[in-house]
Amino acid sequence: MIQIAILGFGVVGSGTAEVLTENQRLIAAHCGEEVNIRYILDLRDFPEHPLGSRVVHDIDVILRDPEVSVVAEMMGGSHPAYDFSKAALEAGKSVVTSNKEVVATYGAELLALARSKGVYYLFEASVGGGIPIIRPLQNDLACNEILSISGILNGTTNFILTKMKKEGVSFADALAEAQANGYAEANPAADVDGLDAARKIVILAALAFGILVSPSQIPVEGISHITSEQTAVADAVGCAVKLIGHTERIGGRVLALVAPHMVPEANPVNHIEGVFNGILVDADMLGRALFYGAGAGKLPTASAVVADILSTAPSAGKPNLPQWRQAA
Ligand code: HSE
Repeated sequence: MIQIAILGFGVVGSGTAEVLTENQRLIAAHCGEEVNIRYILDLRDFPEHPLGSRVVHDIDVILRDPEVSVVAEMMGGSHPAYDFSKAALEAGKSVVTSNKEVVATYGAELLALARSKGVYYLFEASVGGGIPIIRPLQNDLACNEILSISGILNGTTNFILTKMKKEGVSFADALAEAQANGYAEANPAADVDGLDAARKIVILAALAFGILVSPSQIPVEGISHITSEQTAVADAVGCAVKLIGHTERIGGRVLALVAPHMVPEANPVNHIEGVFNGILVDADMLGRALFYGAGAGKLPTASAVVADILSTAPSAGKPNLPQWRQAA
């Protein structure tokens, strides 16, 4: 039996428990053994939840338990998420995470630590919610040179821009609905100001080019200044306003940016609406491929977290982790 600990029992953490419980039989058949949630670390108690008795408040309980082989970090924020992830890796436990803030800032260090310990550091859920994009870039496209990656990386802003375009609702009302649906970050400024997308594009750039650039070093513009009049004007000329993350390598340098774009109808990204994300990868052998799906939300994101948990099963073989160089 694979014993795991969930760190953070919010939207994605509780979704992960739901996926593991709901599809328990399927998951056991895939891994050849069951996955058991041994602990849930949170500041709160959940006395009404069926897993309420698994709640602990001290990370050391998890770190000291030799039975726990996987820690699923879904706390959000850099601290203590980074500190707990590092401590878990140092204790010889694999870590899977949806936390793009930690991956974008400390990914190079945590991957190196995981490699030195012979365990996994996996982050499929950190970009594109439930869309498989990290593993395809890491594995399936390994024989390709990636030319560029471009697309919609933030579900909240795409939800807002779609509502503004289709229903003419205000920015504030559309944001409130995205928050009610659990799409937005704890501080939605990270969504609407482009920082969430910036974290995701630097992760994708690192996978494509092996260099992790700090999100604070790239040009980032959000959508809070966009009005429904502007989305209507764009519509009238056959375009949709989309918050686009883009990366490519120019010479030896990695270019990455996030900004609102007028996307013409001929581009498939124009048609991606609501909370959906769409990521266009241009690779030298494959050509262009579009990765499309639910970019945020409880169960889609949890699906990606559970995919990573399953990848740590002994039956999956040895870790094959990328090596990233931190940009100067
Ligand atoms: N706030 C993020 C979004 C959640 O809206 O895309 C998924 O990373």
